[in-house]
Parts: sequence; C-alpha cells; structure tokens
Amino acid sequence: MPTLTSRKSAPLAGKARVPGDKSISHRALMLGTVALGETRISGLLEGEDVLRTAAAMRAMGATVIAPETPGGDWVVHGLGVGGLLAPHEDLDMGNSGTAARLLLGLIAGHDFTARMVGDASLSSRPMKRVTDPLSQVGATFKTADGGRLPLRITGARDPMPIAYELPVASAQVKSAVLLAGLNAPGETVVVEPKPTRDHSEKMLTHFGGKVRVEDLGDGGRRITLNGRPELKGRDVIVPADISSAAFLLVAAAIVPGSDITVTGVGLNPLRAGVIETLKDLSADIEILDQRTEAGEMIGDVRVRASNLKGCTVPASRAPAQIDEYPVLFVASAFAQGDTRFEGLDELRVKESDRLSVMAEGLKACGVDVEEGEDWLVVHGVGGTDKTVAGGAEVRSHLDHRIAMSFLVLGLASENPITIDDASPIDTSFPGFRALMESLGASFE
Ligand code: S3P
Repeated sequence: MPTLTSRKSAPLAGKARVPGDKSISHRALMLGTVALGETRISGLLEGEDVLRTAAAMRAMGATVIAPETPGGDWVVHGLGVGGLLAPHEDLDMGNSGTAARLLLGLIAGHDFTARMVGDASLSSRPMKRVTDPLSQVGATFKTADGGRLPLRITGARDPMPIAYELPVASAQVKSAVLLAGLNAPGETVVVEPKPTRDHSEKMLTHFGGKVRVEDLGDGGRRITLNGRPELKGRDVIVPADISSAAFLLVAAAIVPGSDITVTGVGLNPLRAGVIETLKDLSADIEILDQRTEAGEMIGDVRVRASNLKGCTVPASRAPAQIDEYPVLFVASAFAQGDTRFEGLDELRVKESDRLSVMAEGLKACGVDVEEGEDWLVVHGVGGTDKTVAGGAEVRSHLDHRIAMSFLVLGLASENPITIDDASPIDTSFPGFRALMESLGASFE
C-alpha cells in the first residue's frame, strides 16, 4: 500500500482546476448509454470510480470511446432506452456506491440477470435502500448477508412505474428509481423529504426526457418522470468537482499566508453547502465570475488564509455538503472555539464510517472532539497558544476523502501526517498530489 506524508507548507498560491464532477460523470456515461446516437462528454472525471461505470456500460453493449490523450472528450454510442444487453462478466463497481446503486436502477428495467461485485468497502455498504424500491419495480435480487454486495439482480420483464417516498435523503436512491422508471410505461414518482443533488433530473431533461419537479412547500420535492422517453445523445460539459475543490479550499484557509483560486467549479446550489459552511466558519472566500454552462452553475472560488471561528452547522445543510464533512471537520480543528455539526447519520454508511474514522483520526492528531450518534463537536485550537499537533499515522480505510482530509490537515499541523494507503485517492481525484504541489503543498 502506498503511504503518503504531508507536512507544514509554505503559503499555497496560484490558480488550479480540479478534475470533473464525479456525480455528473457517472450520469453522463449512463444516460449516453440509454440514449440513441452519440454523446460527447468533455471534462469527464477519469478517476477509478467513473472508469468502473465506463467498463460496465461497455459490458452491457454500449460503445464507449476513451480519448487518445487523457483529458480529451469521451464519446458514447448509446443503445436507446431499454437497450442494455446482458453482461457476460461480473460488473465490478470497485469502490463506487454511486456506480453500483445507479446501475442497479438502470438494470432493474431490463429483462436479464447480472452479478455485481465491489471492493471490501463497497461490499460493506447498504444496498437495501435501492433493492427495496427496485423490487417494487419488479426486479428480483439475491444478495450477500445484510442485503449487501456481491449480489445478483434479475431485471423486470414488465417494469412497473412506481411512486416512492425516500426514507433517507439520498440522491443515489432517487436516481436509481428514476433510471428504473425510464423503461417503465407511465409515470414514475419520487418524493424526497429534503432536496438532494438534482443532476439526474437535469441531465434527463438535457437528453430529452420529461421530468417534472414540484416543490412541496415543506422543503420536500416531488419528481415525476414520464416513462419510455426517446432519449437522444447530447454533448455534456462536466464542471470541476466541488467535492474535490473542497480540499484545496480548506487547505488555503488553514495554511497561513495562502491565496488560491479554484476555477470552473460546479456550484449547483444542492452541492454548494461547503461554501456556506466555510463562510459560517469566517473563511475569507469569494465566488468570482459566476456563470452557467450546460445547465449547471459554475464559478471560480478564491480563498485566502483565514482566522476561522467555530459555528453551528445545521442538519438541514447535510445533503448539500454530505461528502465535504471530513475536510470541514479539519477546517474546524483550526478554528477558534467549538464547531458543532449536526445531522451526520449518513456519514456512517459512506466509503467508511466517516464520523468515527474522522473523530478517531482527529484525536490522534491532538484535536479534542466529541462524537455523538449523528453529531460531532470539534474543539478548535485557533486563537489559543496551542496548534493542531498532527504527527499521526492515519488509516484511510479504503476511503479517498479520509485520505485527502488528513493530508490537508498535515499541511498546517505542527508535525507531519502519514496516510497508510493513498491509493483510494485515485477513485475521485487523480493527480491530487501533483496539483497540491503545484500550489506549494509539501508531500513526501
Ligand atoms: C451521490 C450522492 C451522495 C454522495 C455520493 C454521490 C450521487 O450519496 O455521497 O458521493 O452522485 O448521487 P447519497 O445519495 O447516498 O447521499
């Protein structure tokens, strides 16, 4: 396992662009596959998670053409709605919950059997949240204990359009149900009590699908999809991933003297909670040149080193920054006073149990934290004569965001931080180390 160490760095400075948005990249490949004609994707994230989706699309009959040089356009020749073919091999989704859950949705409306496997992290994550609604569509499942991977799915011969209220605020579950509904006649309805990222709804519309979104007045939304649309191949421009940008933003806020700008960042309001929270932590952060590109809001985000101050981060913001909590905990460790994070239950079922793994790692770095069932209080050291000690070797638990969060901490702590296994970083942020080094970060 490749270890990686970060150490106290000189001020971070300059402009950088992080790789493409992971959520949008998965969806572009999947919708390109069930559209007719050519889909051209620019800015696709070439991380392991998304490459798993590309391989699965090929295994089910799509032509997915990688660019000759990394970073170029990807092209998908699709099969049309209902056109997936039975794969002859296991679908190996690696570390990716999004790939696994969305694909189960897509397959649920096809009359064939497929076997899905994943790595140790993915094989420990709950799948019942998607197999439950997809069973109502008519798919059947044979799962490992606890409803987990590896599993065998047999899609429905006559998929049923369902109406489903999400029991958890999960864009993955919402998307799985909508993708299953693509090949069902009539209207598929999903009600979400709290709004979650809406990339599926937006992209389905972009490909010519009919999706109606209604605000329910209580913060919830009802999404209605007309089944059996004729989706047409489209150009997709993938913005830079705000979830990856978050590591740079926090690093600049905590490394004294820093001033960086991250360009072309996707700022979809259902994803941009991290900007609000950094503002609440008194970070010196501003959005420059906000614009719309291919239906998604984007902008350049400038952050300067900041005297962070503790705050309360409300549960209502959780879906809009669900993947950014680990690095936000790191930011709060450097803040003056306490930061209380609420509504964290979903963190326990990510690539690792991010609540306990972060609490344990922060303690090992000399940060005082209190962990509850679904909350965390971080006692920040800012404004005291102490600093974050660091000096720990932290296990990344097959979780890219744990690895990157502690490496960011090590850029500003007194002593270096070592991650036992840096390889998971490539699932979402290939080139992380080189990009951070280009801004002045110290690794070895
Ligand atoms: C994602 C949704 C989120 C997020 C994940 C990507 C998506 O998961 O954590 O990294 O692309 O739909 P949940 O929907 O399970 O919260």
